[in-house]
Amino acid sequence: MLAIAVLAAGKGTRMKSDLPKVLQPLAGATLVERVMASTGTLKPERMLLIVGHQAEKVEAALKDHPSGPQFVLQQPQNGTGHAVQQLLEPLADFDGDLLVLNGDVPLLRSETLDALLGNHRKTGAAVTLLTAHLENPTGYGRVFLKADGSVREIIEHRDCNEEQRKNSLINAGIYCFHWPRLKQVLPKLSADNDQGELYLTDTVSLLGDAGHQVVQDLSEITGINNRSQLAQCEGMLQERLRSHWMAEGVSFIDPASCTLSEDTRFGRDVIIEPQSHFRGNNTIGDGCKIGPGSLVQDCVIESDVHVVLSMLNGAKVSSGCRIGPYAHLRPQALLGKGVRIGNFVEVKKSQLGEGSKVNHLSYIGDAELGSRVNVGAGTITANYDGISKHRTVIGDGSKTGANSVLVAPINLGRNVTVGAGSTLTKDVPDGALALGRARQLLKQGWSTPPS
Ligand code: UD1
Ligand code: CA
Repeated sequence: MLAIAVLAAGKGTRMKSDLPKVLQPLAGATLVERVMASTGTLKPERMLLIVGHQAEKVEAALKDHPSGPQFVLQQPQNGTGHAVQQLLEPLADFDGDLLVLNGDVPLLRSETLDALLGNHRKTGAAVTLLTAHLENPTGYGRVFLKADGSVREIIEHRDCNEEQRKNSLINAGIYCFHWPRLKQVLPKLSADNDQGELYLTDTVSLLGDAGHQVVQDLSEITGINNRSQLAQCEGMLQERLRSHWMAEGVSFIDPASCTLSEDTRFGRDVIIEPQSHFRGNNTIGDGCKIGPGSLVQDCVIESDVHVVLSMLNGAKVSSGCRIGPYAHLRPQALLGKGVRIGNFVEVKKSQLGEGSKVNHLSYIGDAELGSRVNVGAGTITANYDGISKHRTVIGDGSKTGANSVLVAPINLGRNVTVGAGSTLTKDVPDGALALGRARQLLKQGWSTPPS
């Protein structure tokens, strides 16, 4: 039997933020979501989340989490030991193992937790914790061992003397307890320390039977207490994501300048040029070339698409399209095969058929363009009358001249030609030329009188 408790009640004073620390974002997910995700394959009988500081916000963010957490309120927040004391009631009848995770240690791998639990059950210790040797252990609790290699005690950085601070073996804040034994010692914790709090770490010496497991990959146990550690973690996570995709056949010209989300998937032979960023849920097909300088969010991009210096959000782009430079695809921009979207063109909630081109300076919104439509420079679909949005439909093979305004609702048939500078307010049938502009006047021999 396994219960997991995530400690997420602390304020995170050192973050200097209005947001509770565990809700700080890291590569598109909150810290506490990442901690919960690291429990991956463990399948606990109970999942408990200890909340306190801004508890409503933390609960609201996690109430629909697939692990179905039970929220346990810790009020006031009197330290990590006090947090775990709050489990005495909800786990009164529980007699299995309790895995305690700090809500601010977000990069753990589920394999590491699996191994910790396996090791703990094999040795039958009262507690087994994750430790690491750090070059710079400042801020972490130091772990002191007995001669037989088991753990004697943990002393917090601020409670250590000079000599003790030289110990580089630190407590990662991840523990596997035998709950029936832990619950005997929890009431014995005292606040006799620099912070005047109840420390979970003091249970280790009270239990007197503690093992530890040393983590090799230090990125896994990085705890986040301030913005600089948050940035370091973001860096490590990005590094993991990029290495993963490089191993899958994606090239990065300048990897460190690009950021990915976990829900972005790439095909093979994709080239990511510098300063390109992927957020949310994306699928990028084989042979695409994205960047430099692009932001792609929640998009489906098929194969062999090139995107340069552009922003794409919620768009679906078929194979062979060419986007940018300086294009803006907004939600529900649906581009057929081989569509060309050029500079300073914005497309929103519009469908463009195969081979259509919008090359320069246009706004296409709430429109449906057939195939091989050529939209002239500066063409605008005037979709909004101040109250509602209206649709523009343009048939296959039609062309609009430069600086046309199509006042929606409007329907242009197939193979229509729109003269440059036209403002059209009425439908145009198949094959017609539509002109909607003032006739040019010519006054011969005209000269302005001298002033
Ligand atoms: C803790 C450990 C330290 C370890 C480090 C690893 C203790 C006393 N110290 O220190 O040995 O090296 O983690 O990262 O445990 N929390 C509550 N309620 C509280 C206080 C904290 O739920 O009353 C939660 C916080 O939200 C956080 C976690 O517990 O997620 C750790 O608290 P934090 O104050 O960051 O502990 P550290 O000083 O980092
Ligand atoms: Ca911490």
